[in-house]
Amino acid sequence: MEPEMDRQTETSADPMVALRDARARTLELVAGLDGAALMGPRLSIVNPLLWEIGHLAWFHEHFVLRGLDRRGPLLPQADALYDSAAVPHATRWDLPLPTLDETLGYMERVQDALADRLTGRTPDPREAYLYQLVGLHEDMHGEAFTYTRQTLGQPRPVFATAHDDATETGPWPGDTEVGGGTLRLGADRDASGFVFDNEKWAHPVEIAPFRIAKAPVTNGEFVAFVDDGGYRTERFWDGEGLAWLAASGATHPIYWQRSEGTWQVRAFDHEGPLHPHRPVIHVNWHEARAFCRWAGRRLPTEAEWEAAATAERAPDGRLGKAKRTYPWGEAAPDRTRANLDGGRLGTVDVAAHGAGDSPWGCRQMVGNVWEWTESTFLPFPGFAPDAYAEYSAPSFGTRKVLRGGAWATRARMVTGRYRNFFGPDRRDVFAGFRTVAV
Ligand SMILES: [Fe+2]
Repeated sequence: MEPEMDRQTETSADPMVALRDARARTLELVAGLDGAALMGPRLSIVNPLLWEIGHLAWFHEHFVLRGLDRRGPLLPQADALYDSAAVPHATRWDLPLPTLDETLGYMERVQDALADRLTGRTPDPREAYLYQLVGLHEDMHGEAFTYTRQTLGQPRPVFATAHDDATETGPWPGDTEVGGGTLRLGADRDASGFVFDNEKWAHPVEIAPFRIAKAPVTNGEFVAFVDDGGYRTERFWDGEGLAWLAASGATHPIYWQRSEGTWQVRAFDHEGPLHPHRPVIHVNWHEARAFCRWAGRRLPTEAEWEAAATAERAPDGRLGKAKRTYPWGEAAPDRTRANLDGGRLGTVDVAAHGAGDSPWGCRQMVGNVWEWTESTFLPFPGFAPDAYAEYSAPSFGTRKVLRGGAWATRARMVTGRYRNFFGPDRRDVFAGFRTVAV
């Protein structure tokens, strides 16, 4: 038995619960979009939505019905349409895609078949692993659908689970000292929850003491950088950053606009005032680093980030031996601890969710915004790809690591050890950052 399978016994007995929830979110994100919106513009950072939802069903079929059961395809041409490893991105607008109704029908048939094959029995560990995998894959695409709606200026999605908790909690300034020591970076072999291949396995990393911000950088703090000429001052940018700056012509974060002396920001199809105490979001790695250089700070490495988020604090103030799954402990995320699952349909002030603080007093390490780290996405020692071989390996060496999850991330996916990865020029993802004292 492969190690990752042992863990599945402790997850929900019925894997269809997460699959149905993921599907409900997918359908919410498609609802109300017309034919033109379902295809959208040809952009390197988006997929045609009509293609992407069919790809979800194909992925379920590929790993479970066809991979495990050796069944034939439910849609004869599915491989030629939806195999993301085989169908080049630029050609996805030109495919003879089924209509929306046909696509939804295919998705339903696949999901019904996944449910039927588990009727009256408990999945074995291999099955449970694959059901979780295909559900988490749908969750990842769900987050991508959400930021695609932002990218394209489409209406704010309507989520049944949206709520209206108070969020005007203000700033949360200052640093906290994280003691040095040895962090076991990555997933321990007895870690709870789904373990992705790129988290395997925990290995010791020596960390010197450092001072890290208790909260992510806010819009208000980023305004000071922009207004101080941050985007026009070469010394704040390295060579690649300058090249990106010249190519993009950026002078401020992508969705900001100055109107009569104040900063406005677009959220989906709506312009409104910039909230000063919410974290800056939709900035890329170059922008994050330029801010750091302006502020006399730096980004944390991913090991520092994970230590500040998950390491227990030893009595002498150094890193303890034990690590938590989440900053607050082992309990699953809820709405007091983290802004996840799209519940707020946006970010909240950085002082919110004090119940989710880490042992070092870092707030919102999980939820609200993804946080860029200094680190390039690399395999941990002894890396081997899991069933979804194209998940991590093709991105090693070219992407930067982001940690912690954002407001649209599904709570069931993210932990304090989860490694996200995007290219350093991506501004469309729900990413901000926190800083470390130099
Ligand atoms: Fe995919």
